[in-house]
Amino acid sequence: MENFNYYTPTEVVFGRGTEKQVGELVKAQKCSKVLVHYGSGSVKKSGLLDRVFRSLDEAGISYLSLGGVVPNPRLSLVYEGISLCKSEDVDFILAVGGGSVIDSAKAIGYGVSNEGDVWDFYEKKRQASGCLSIGVVLTISAAGSEMSDSSVITNEKGWLKRGYSSNYARAKFAVMNPELTMTLPKYQTASGCVDIMMHTMERYFNQCDNMELTDGISEHLIRTVMKNAKILMEEPYNYDARAEVMWAGSLSHNGLTGCGTDGGDWACHQLEHELGGMFDVAHGAGLAAVWGSWARYVMDACPERFARFAVNVMGVADGADETETALKGIEAMEAFYRAVEMPVCIKDLGIEPTVEQLRELAEKCSHLRKRTVGCVKKLDVDDMYQIYKNALEFG
Ligand code: NZQ
Ligand code: ZN
Repeated sequence: MENFNYYTPTEVVFGRGTEKQVGELVKAQKCSKVLVHYGSGSVKKSGLLDRVFRSLDEAGISYLSLGGVVPNPRLSLVYEGISLCKSEDVDFILAVGGGSVIDSAKAIGYGVSNEGDVWDFYEKKRQASGCLSIGVVLTISAAGSEMSDSSVITNEKGWLKRGYSSNYARAKFAVMNPELTMTLPKYQTASGCVDIMMHTMERYFNQCDNMELTDGISEHLIRTVMKNAKILMEEPYNYDARAEVMWAGSLSHNGLTGCGTDGGDWACHQLEHELGGMFDVAHGAGLAAVWGSWARYVMDACPERFARFAVNVMGVADGADETETALKGIEAMEAFYRAVEMPVCIKDLGIEPTVEQLRELAEKCSHLRKRTVGCVKKLDVDDMYQIYKNALEFG
């Protein structure tokens, strides 16, 4: 087992009606002015935003709001948020929404607490030395940003989607009421479930052994999400299924499923981020579209891990050898994606990149040939292109 730090400072307030506590939770942060940050309208339509405002009013909190965050959140709105926070002396940001809203809030927080251009952090040109405090009211189980150290932003100049991670941006608290996710469209529910599973799978596929407890937690988490994702396709108002998925979403990306590993692979996330940046696809759906192609491409580097995954997670019977078992596991995962109406190839996303665009995706993912991604197998620009190409259509 590798050495590790496990740091999860976020207070989780979980269950029915918990959004009523948000005013008191913010008050406990001893801030003087709050920016309530939200997305493109779902929280207005559901009435959640009004309930949050009421709770803040009751706690005597002074606040202003900024909506308009879109999936694959944009840098231009981050800049707007930074100016607003500076001119209004905001000292706390309350994100009411999903990963996109939370990530935008984190980016605004970096921009307020650090001089210079916030995009520098996402380009890895320098490190942040702080971030405004963030609180979360979560409305979709997916990205895990409510407990993660990450933030992913899309720069409209060049449509580059880049992530930045630091413990400064960890939320002070996360209000998680599974009922709030019942208004999600089926596609977003399924896409979120894939993302949750992938946060664990990215860590699970690595070059380590001897992680009995971490492997066991990971395998059970993925199975739990698969089971409840299928239930939610038929019963979107099933509270227990919503709750299982919501809790799995946070545990999947707060570091727990990576304890003792080498950090994991993460190639699929890097490959998907370019798809999201260039084609604005839903993150989880984009992951499902490239996973099968990635898995077949790298499987030979670590067949025993893929075979273990096939048996322990996908429940397939042992094949004649590890490679056969591994392949059966990949096919079973693709069958699951189909069962929850998720893509198994890029064309299933409703887009058809040209060969030039596939090359551009690979160039961007390799940061213009300056980096490789993945640890199961280190992937360079040619590998990336091949994986995108194989992922274009199924079979
Ligand atoms: O904007 P609104 O109107 O709220 O609509 C959203 C959006 O269209 C809608 N939605 C959210 N809650 C809803 C709802 N609709 C009805 N009822 C509700 N209760 O769902 C759509 C997707 O929302 P979004 O926040 O984009 O989803 P998600 O949480 O999947 O976040 C995706 C973003 O997070 C990044 C992704 O790359 C992507 O940009 N990630 C962030 C990570 C992190 N910070 O740790 C890790 C992840 O790997 C991921 O990369
Ligand atoms: Zn993700």
